[in-house]
Amino acid sequence: MHRIFCGYEDGEVSKGEDGASLSGEASFSEEVGIEKLAQRSLSLPPAAMAASSSPHALLVQQPLRPSSPLPCKQTLLVAPLRRKTRLSTISCTAVRSPPVSPSVATGRIFNFAAGPATLPESVILKAQAELYNYHGSGMSIMEMSHRGKEFDAVIKKAESDLRLLLGISDDYAVLFLQGGATTQFAAVPLNLCAPGDSADFVVTGSWSDKAFKEAQKFCKANLIWSGKSEKYTKIPAFDDLKQNPDAKFLHICGNETIHGVEFKNYPSPSNKNALLVADMSSNFCSKPVDVSKFGLIYAGAQKNVGPSGVTIAIVRKDLIGNAQPITPVMLDYKIHADSASLYNTPPCFAIYICALVFEDLLEQGGLAGVEKKNQKKAGILYDTIDESNGYYVCPVEKSVRSLMNVPFTLKKSDLEKKFIEEAAKEGMVQLKGHRSVGGVRASIYNAMPFAGVEKLVAFMKDFQARHP
Ligand SMILES: Cc1ncc(COP(=O)(O)O)c(C=O)c1O
Repeated sequence: MHRIFCGYEDGEVSKGEDGASLSGEASFSEEVGIEKLAQRSLSLPPAAMAASSSPHALLVQQPLRPSSPLPCKQTLLVAPLRRKTRLSTISCTAVRSPPVSPSVATGRIFNFAAGPATLPESVILKAQAELYNYHGSGMSIMEMSHRGKEFDAVIKKAESDLRLLLGISDDYAVLFLQGGATTQFAAVPLNLCAPGDSADFVVTGSWSDKAFKEAQKFCKANLIWSGKSEKYTKIPAFDDLKQNPDAKFLHICGNETIHGVEFKNYPSPSNKNALLVADMSSNFCSKPVDVSKFGLIYAGAQKNVGPSGVTIAIVRKDLIGNAQPITPVMLDYKIHADSASLYNTPPCFAIYICALVFEDLLEQGGLAGVEKKNQKKAGILYDTIDESNGYYVCPVEKSVRSLMNVPFTLKKSDLEKKFIEEAAKEGMVQLKGHRSVGGVRASIYNAMPFAGVEKLVAFMKDFQARHP
């Protein structure tokens, strides 16, 4: 039995199983599987041809995507299974077709989910290509030791690329943790406060409210501002904040995923010894951030930088090592900092995907450019809402509207269900607002292509015309 698969690799290996040198030009189209492609465009050695046409062959036909930003050199691998023969590799040159709408060409749709959320297509495809036999190790990244050299390289690269992206200095530790951002709601006070210490919370939506409530168990948490009475549509003026002089930290949520309010700049703790702490789960790496303003930033990965399962904490090193005695080891930053996030088995696959995302963001030129793209995407969406004569309404104050999560309602709220259903039929899914607020929400994280938002706004205009 043979397994045929293909991927893209850096090296241009061109030896067939019988040692023959192979190369060829090939155009990819959705209908042409690897098997046909090989037959049509390459002269394969008999063994490879037999493998590709074997009735037992498993063809993974999608990895070489015409519309994806893949490197031009593609590699077709022909691997006999259950035989002690070497992998055969045939290289060919892919001629890229013009971009095609994901929904038409590939079965991928525009996913507006708030998280887990859409990931860059190039990352998904790279992970797919590397999945079976990670860098020639003979196993996937999911199967190998977290203490082996391959994973060691992955986690180190994830950290160093993130440091580059956000300009994180050596004064800060970068930790890859588990338990979601929700676990950080407890870990933050446990690490930064003694039991009687006080900490200030600005509550701009459901997530900062949860952080505040959890912290009450581990410190004297003060609610110094809440946007609840105004349905979480605002960020306070910083001068209005009545901070407590003895507060150990001031906690904010950088972007409220449910309500769509985002801090555009950051308050400073009034006490110079206090720290600014931010939950940046839903706008992490969506724009440059001056990390030096913060004692601690934490973010669940599953919105902008990876799958669920890993939470990243960026902690100023001098704050580490003072956890309350009751702190479980898994919540103690010192334990994780001292063991380079490998105290126990980490979420290896999730960290690997984060590493690919960070690499992708660097390849895009870094976060300043990413922010511009995000502004452009959010801009056309908010403009469509604002120019709809009240047909669509975004309740959030304009100056603090999120670039990541755009909540809106329809004037005729009974049409919202129809709107969401019709959008799904057009290949735009997960547009339902959070169950606590209803309405519609479009999450347009880094990986949402401009084309996805363009398609959404075209649909919104059309929907409005059809249902005046
Ligand atoms: C801003 C924010 N904070 C915290 C959380 C909780 O994250 P997790 O589910 O990873 O615990 C979320 C989840 O959506 C979020 O959006």
